[in-house]
Amino acid sequence: MFLEMKNQMKHFLSIVDAKDHIDEMLDSTGKFKKNIMDRELLKGKTLAMIFEKASTRTRISFEVAMFHLGGSALYLSTDDLQIGRGEIIEDTAKAMSRYVNGVMIRARKHEDVAKFAHNSDVPVINGLTDIEHPCQALADIFTIYERKKSFDVHLTFVGDGNNVCNSLLLASSLVGMDMVVVCPSGYEPPTEIFEEAKKFARKSGSNLKITNDLEDGIAGSDIIYTDVWVSMGDEKESKMRIKAFKDYQVNIDLLNQAADDVIVMHCLPAHRGQEITASVIDGEHSIVWDQAENRLHAQKAVLYKLLG
Ligand code: CP
Ligand code: NVA
Repeated sequence: MFLEMKNQMKHFLSIVDAKDHIDEMLDSTGKFKKNIMDRELLKGKTLAMIFEKASTRTRISFEVAMFHLGGSALYLSTDDLQIGRGEIIEDTAKAMSRYVNGVMIRARKHEDVAKFAHNSDVPVINGLTDIEHPCQALADIFTIYERKKSFDVHLTFVGDGNNVCNSLLLASSLVGMDMVVVCPSGYEPPTEIFEEAKKFARKSGSNLKITNDLEDGIAGSDIIYTDVWVSMGDEKESKMRIKAFKDYQVNIDLLNQAADDVIVMHCLPAHRGQEITASVIDGEHSIVWDQAENRLHAQKAVLYKLLG
C-alpha cells in the first residue's frame, strides 16, 4: 500500500509528474485511440477547465474526452470567474474542489497553477503555462512512437525554447529519445529545465543538445518540430522575435538537409510563412493533423489516470 501511494500521480503540472507512469499512459492512449477503452470510465465526473488564454485544441479535446468517457466539462474563462475580480487563487481552488472532480488550467504563470494545485483537493492538470505544456508533450511522444515504432530517433526542435520545447525536452529525456534544440541566441530553454532533462537523460541514455547552428542541429534528424515564434503573451515582442527567428524557418531547404523519411511536427496553431512554410505544413512529411488528433486520445489517458 505504501509503495503504491509513493508512486501515485496526484497532479499533472509537468511532464515529469508522469515519469513513473509514461508507459502506462502511452498504452492507454493507444487503447483509447483504438476504442478499446472508450467506455463510461468517468461517468458522473466533472472537469472544470479554467482558461486565462485562448485555446482550440486543448479546450475541445478535453471537453470531448470528458463527454466520451461519460463525464462532463465546464469551460470557465478567468474573465468570468471571481478570480478576474481579485478573488485569490487559494480560495478559488478550495471552493472549486468542493464541486468538481478535477481542474484543468491554462494560465499565464506556471506558479499560479502550482499554487492552485497546492490548495486543491482534486487533481489539477496543466493545460499550458509559460513554462510547460505537458499534455502536448504526452500526445507528441505518443505520435512519435506511433510513426517511428521506437524512441531510438533524433528529434530536432527548431524555434523558441519555450513551454512546448521545455516539456518535449523533459519528455525526450524520460523516454530516452535524442533531442537537439536549435534556436537563436537568447531564446534557449531555461537552464533549470535543461539541467533537469540532462539528469533524466543520464539514466535513459538520451543525448540532449542546444545549439544556435541550424545546420548542425538538423544533421541526422528524423523528426523536425517547431512552434510559433510569438507565443501567447509575447505579442509585444513580435517585431524583435520575427527578426531574431527569421533564419530558423522550417522550409523545404531545411527538409532537404534531413533524412528522406523525416517527419514534421507542430503543436499548432501555426503561422504559415513564419516558423513554417505552407508547403511544409501541408506537404507529405507533415503529420500535424495526426498529432492534433492524438491530443484527444492522450487527454483521455490523463483524465483516466487522474480522475478514474
Ligand atoms: N497545441 C495547443 O495547445 O493548441 P491550443 O492552443 O489550440 O489549445
Ligand atoms: N508556445 C505556444 C504554444 C501554443 C499551443 C504559446 O504558448 O502560445
